[in-house]
Amino acid sequence: MDKLERNYTRFAFILLLFSLVLGVITAFSFIFHEHVKDYLPLQQLRPMHVSAALFWIISGASLNIFLHNQKDKTIPKNALSIRNVSIVLWQISIVVIFIHYIFKQFGGREYWEFPGWISLLLLLCWIGFCSYYFLFWKNEPNKRPQYIIMWGTGMLFFLITFIEQNLWQITWFRESFLQEVTIQWKANGSMVGAWNQMIYGTSLYLMVQISGKKEIAFDKKSIVFYFLGFTNLLFNWGHHIYNLPTNNWMRHVAYAISMTEWILLINIIQGFKKTLSETLRFKQLISYRFLIASEFWVFLNLILALFMSIPAINRYTHGTHVTVAHAMGTTIGINSMILLGSFAYLLKIDNIQMKQKKLFHAGFIIIQVSLVIFWLSLIAAGVFSAYEQTHLGIKTYASIIPSVVTSLYVFATAGLFMLIGFAIIIPYFFKGISKSK
Ligand code: HEM
Repeated sequence: MDKLERNYTRFAFILLLFSLVLGVITAFSFIFHEHVKDYLPLQQLRPMHVSAALFWIISGASLNIFLHNQKDKTIPKNALSIRNVSIVLWQISIVVIFIHYIFKQFGGREYWEFPGWISLLLLLCWIGFCSYYFLFWKNEPNKRPQYIIMWGTGMLFFLITFIEQNLWQITWFRESFLQEVTIQWKANGSMVGAWNQMIYGTSLYLMVQISGKKEIAFDKKSIVFYFLGFTNLLFNWGHHIYNLPTNNWMRHVAYAISMTEWILLINIIQGFKKTLSETLRFKQLISYRFLIASEFWVFLNLILALFMSIPAINRYTHGTHVTVAHAMGTTIGINSMILLGSFAYLLKIDNIQMKQKKLFHAGFIIIQVSLVIFWLSLIAAGVFSAYEQTHLGIKTYASIIPSVVTSLYVFATAGLFMLIGFAIIIPYFFKGISKSK
């Protein structure tokens, strides 16, 4: 790793830490809203937390692609320069976003609530990232492993969906509210498909590296996985527009597709587990554990998504904490676990001493246990508030709070424990970054 890459990796981990700390503060300020609303307003904290989380995932996904290509000597020099300038600009843009948030200068749309002009900077950076990647691809003799194709597809479609997500900046798209909301929700849904392509590509790469079996990235299953992921990217947004007036078949097709992709991912990870000898497993134990954790989270989110896909249930749960459980269950449980597994591999975290490994493992267990409680309590809060709204007719924010408050207490406390778990393991990643000269 060179200095710039080390700094970018540090930056990504700072975003993760930021997201965790802000998440915990947001959760408690939600509960004590009346007392803290003047100092810790939700409308300021929420976008800060969500942006830090999304930028951790997107920066982490791009970093993994850049770093895994490192061994490749075919990368043209001009491609590297474009990439390096883009990396610097990307980090500056994110810092500018947070400065705006601190001064309560908002704009944009859901999940991207910063002033619209900053999107232009981010767009330029992503074009730079894509130029680097496709120049690399052009010169790459070994173009066929599925992860190479998945990374490229994810990068390209992130670019497309990011543009789509910003169409609201053109007056015509704002003329009808319905039109604007449809495009927004659609773009956000497809964007998740785009970063999943990048991150699932990384998980495939990791499986190849840990097992030493290149076939994993060439066999029929991985090709089907790629095409399913691609179809997902094109159509899974259907379930993001559930509450808008569309045909039912679109929602059902979208849901069916997103679930088949998950089932296949579980299947690929299980196949990988079976072929792995004890020795190999032990050599990359930390990365292996993160991958297995992601499999577990795919499984749990699959069950939740199955329930959420039933229209009669979705009608009540849409927009409640059940949706938040789905969003955080996937971004923390699946995306972040794969990214951490990949960083653990890149930064050789497995080389730490046995005693430190035990502490790391304790942190890992704290994260997993608290995440399960965190996730279940969010679902409980969502179900209670859906019941109140539909059966008891309670619609106001203030009156909903008392009955869901217990679940939210559990959620916030579990979030605090999750933060502690992460605080135990993240220093090892920082040490790994400093050592990776
Ligand atoms: C890696 C860590 C995390 C990631 C990637 C993450 C991701 C997200 C995302 C994507 C959302 C938006 C959900 C939606 O709009 O449906 C969100 C909302 C939220 N997160 Fe997190 N989160 C993380 C950690 C935490 C932690 C530790 C807490 C602490 C309890 C927390 C508390 C919250 C709260 C309170 C919201 C707002 C929920 C609402 O609007 O009702 N998050 N998070």
